[in-house]
Amino acid sequence: MKYQKILITGGAGFVGANLAIDFKKKYPQLTVIALDNLKRRGAELNINRLKEKGVEFVHGDVRCPEDLSGLDLGKNFLMIECSAEPSVLAGVNSSPEYLLNTNLMGAINCFEMARKSRADVIFLSTSRVYPIEPLTKLKYKETPTRYALDEKQPLVGVSEKGISEKFSLEGARSLYGATKLCSELIFQEYQAAYGLRGVINRCGVITGPWQMGKVDQGVVVLWMARHFFGGNLSYIGYGGKGKQVRDFIHVKDLFDLLDQQVGRIDKYDGQVFNVGGGVENSFSLLELTRLCRQVTDKKIKLGAVKETRPNDIRIYLTDSEKVKEATGWKPKIGLEKTLEDIHRWLIDNRDLLAPILS
Ligand SMILES: NC(=O)c1ccc[n+]([C@@H]2O[C@H](COP(=O)([O-])OP(=O)(O)OC[C@H]3O[C@@H](n4cnc5c(N)ncnc54)[C@H](O)[C@@H]3O)[C@@H](O)[C@H]2O)c1
Repeated sequence: MKYQKILITGGAGFVGANLAIDFKKKYPQLTVIALDNLKRRGAELNINRLKEKGVEFVHGDVRCPEDLSGLDLGKNFLMIECSAEPSVLAGVNSSPEYLLNTNLMGAINCFEMARKSRADVIFLSTSRVYPIEPLTKLKYKETPTRYALDEKQPLVGVSEKGISEKFSLEGARSLYGATKLCSELIFQEYQAAYGLRGVINRCGVITGPWQMGKVDQGVVVLWMARHFFGGNLSYIGYGGKGKQVRDFIHVKDLFDLLDQQVGRIDKYDGQVFNVGGGVENSFSLLELTRLCRQVTDKKIKLGAVKETRPNDIRIYLTDSEKVKEATGWKPKIGLEKTLEDIHRWLIDNRDLLAPILS
């Protein structure tokens, strides 16, 4: 590890805290600092967990440049930008102010800090940068349990394997996706103008223990938690059949990728990668329900809402060939093992998690 210090913004969140702990575990000499404003419900549960594992927690807000410049990190550290309002429904029936100020202005504050300190940056972006309208044009077939992409597709950058980095960026994509794409553009300008080094990872669904799943974000944990604690769920949209499809990666697989990227930032500098589980690591809601029942040994009521919500997508699969070829990385943890990990975490932390997830 060439860095002595890593700053993880959004470091008490699901992805940030898991990465912080895994980096500290693998590189005990490393100083790992997790900065978070604790906006996300449940992030507060990570403070003790971080401290116990030797990660420094700083209460701070990426919307305040002073909170970043006040950190005494010296030069040449690594920043992993994980802070966000990560819901695709943010701003839909509410003000977009928080979303814009955190995801866009906050990200710019982070890049600015990195510019001044000559820090390298890994930026966690999202598959939601791809616009919705072209995604609704994908050719698909319907199997008994899910939708699947056709071999032949009418658009560039999509195949039966999923969406590659060549897919169109023309059109509306949700305010969340737009804040992330704008941040990517600013990041690339900082790279061109100031020589800022770093990598952009456009991630599909990431999941695993310590994700505070809720209706608008974190579907896998939401599904598991409802089965575990009891409650209702609904298949929303596309006729209410539950056949919509997502791919996913376990947060441990994301760590493996970032560990590689961090080790060779000179090699991956300037790259934009789609990062996801692809066809092998994908599920429909119907299939997810089946596996949740199997893992928890519990059955809950599943409702159906036929109407599709704004910004929803029938099928999203990531074509991660580029990152796989560049790094040799591929996700190793499948859905059943991921659900078992989540189940174990729910059992071990039932009382702590019940107020948030039940
Ligand atoms: N989880 C996924 O499926 C997924 C998929 C693609 C991309 N991402 C990206 O990964 C990153 C991490 O997402 P996550 O799933 O861990 O979400 P999360 O909500 O669990 O974590 C985000 C953290 O940022 C913090 N935060 C919010 N506003 C802040 C602010 N103004 N200042 C400082 N901290 C602030 C929150 O308190 C939270 O702890 C985000 O950038 C997200 O867009 C996540």
